[in-house]
Amino acid sequence: MVYRCLECGAEYGIDQLLYICPQCQGLFLLEDKAADRLRRHPGSFWQRLFNYRKMLNAPAVKGIFLYHELIAPVIPPDDIIFLGEGHTPQVAANSRLQDEVGMAFGYKNDGQNPSASFKDRGMAAALSYLNYLIRTRNLEGVLAICASTGDTSAAAALYAAYLGDRLASAVLLPHGKVTPQQLSQPLGSGARVFEIPGVFDDCMRVVEALSERYHVALLNSKNSWRIRGQESYAYEIAQWYDFHLHNKVIVVPIGNAGNITAVLEGLLRCHDLGIIDSLPRVLGVQSHHADPVFRYYQEQNPTKRIFVPVTVKASVAQAAMIGRPVSMPRVIHRVEEYLRRAGEGSFAVVQVTEQEIMDAMLLANRNGHIACTQGGESLAGLQAALRAGLVRRDEEAVLDATAHALKFVSFQQMYFDNSFPPEFEVIPKPEYQNHPRLLTPQVNLASGSPSSPVEQQAFTQDMVKQLAAILKLKSKR
Ligand SMILES: Cc1ncc(COP(=O)(O)O)c(C=O)c1O
Ligand SMILES: [Zn+2]
Repeated sequence: MVYRCLECGAEYGIDQLLYICPQCQGLFLLEDKAADRLRRHPGSFWQRLFNYRKMLNAPAVKGIFLYHELIAPVIPPDDIIFLGEGHTPQVAANSRLQDEVGMAFGYKNDGQNPSASFKDRGMAAALSYLNYLIRTRNLEGVLAICASTGDTSAAAALYAAYLGDRLASAVLLPHGKVTPQQLSQPLGSGARVFEIPGVFDDCMRVVEALSERYHVALLNSKNSWRIRGQESYAYEIAQWYDFHLHNKVIVVPIGNAGNITAVLEGLLRCHDLGIIDSLPRVLGVQSHHADPVFRYYQEQNPTKRIFVPVTVKASVAQAAMIGRPVSMPRVIHRVEEYLRRAGEGSFAVVQVTEQEIMDAMLLANRNGHIACTQGGESLAGLQAALRAGLVRRDEEAVLDATAHALKFVSFQQMYFDNSFPPEFEVIPKPEYQNHPRLLTPQVNLASGSPSSPVEQQAFTQDMVKQLAAILKLKSKR
């Protein structure tokens, strides 16, 4: 495998840690120069192999490396790190929710990865590669570093912690712009955690400059091993549908644009090898408060498109609140190829409001899902695409719930309490608000809560009576 510069085409060996082209500063994608040997087998061979591997119990193929040949055949199985990532469940929306939205769809719950977001897929690849490099090059005391909107740092710190003394990790976060749950994750994993005033884009500039001047292992998605690992999301969807993706739509929220790159790249790779016979529609979603990719594709004439970073505003899809997506050149590159192969309309980016994101997340979760705000963004995006005629009602969509709902409960709480600062522009719908109700005992309790058997009996009777009245329960007798 080699690093291939997307700008000047130069190639570099993977025996060094490289993130951008030393000649032209261009971004890389990894290229398997021996990919021709994969083409010697028909697609049906790979389908059977991947299906067979699902039955095996070896840790090296339990996660994303079930697709070892597609992701990183250069990493020996013994160096692969498996922390339980990948093969996340795909959960169909119930009929009530499908009726409300107007088409068949389901969530693929990437919040059910070990650090509760899709980032674990990329980290499993990046850290397995680092593990391999550390062993074969006798590297000592490597420091892995990343900027993050919360989930990259949680995943990086988790995988680095697993490597123990071989690797230390440091993460850089925008102060006050990651949730308390996300902040607790790298702290718990023992990473050095630094916060700076500003937004993610400011953090990113710092780690970019740091990685240019010092020996550090950059774990942001500039690191092309991350992209490879995240391709597994697309492979799993293909396998779920028995490798038939005709009439399917994959919906992905876009922040730094690593995930959408990986999904497109993964689908193209499968198609290239004949593992899938048709390419599905891919839909990216952005909030109107952080929408540089949407704006770029608003211009219909490809030759007139100019990428302009935006200054982000407060967003409930905080993990995707990025105005200068690092992977934009990769997106442009891969979308061009995707449209060429899959045709007009096979890729689009839609824009949704903060209000739509929150409402969609609560709608999904009130129907048995565990979508985070970015998962809400996926559903809001599907609804927007239906309204705009970009998706047909007879298609079937897979929505990326990129993280677990529990990481973003602070936004749910703001919705329930109607306490969003005005810049979010979210007005709660009363039917989605929910609060706990404290029951007040109507019996005398010496210490405020029941303490003697007599009090416990009276208290229980009192609570039963109150609950039965509030819930309008019918008596059995
Ligand atoms: C939960 C979640 N969803 C979506 C995104 C956006 O993904 P990407 O940055 O790869 O576009 C991120 C991170 O940036 C994230 O943490
Ligand atoms: Zn270059």
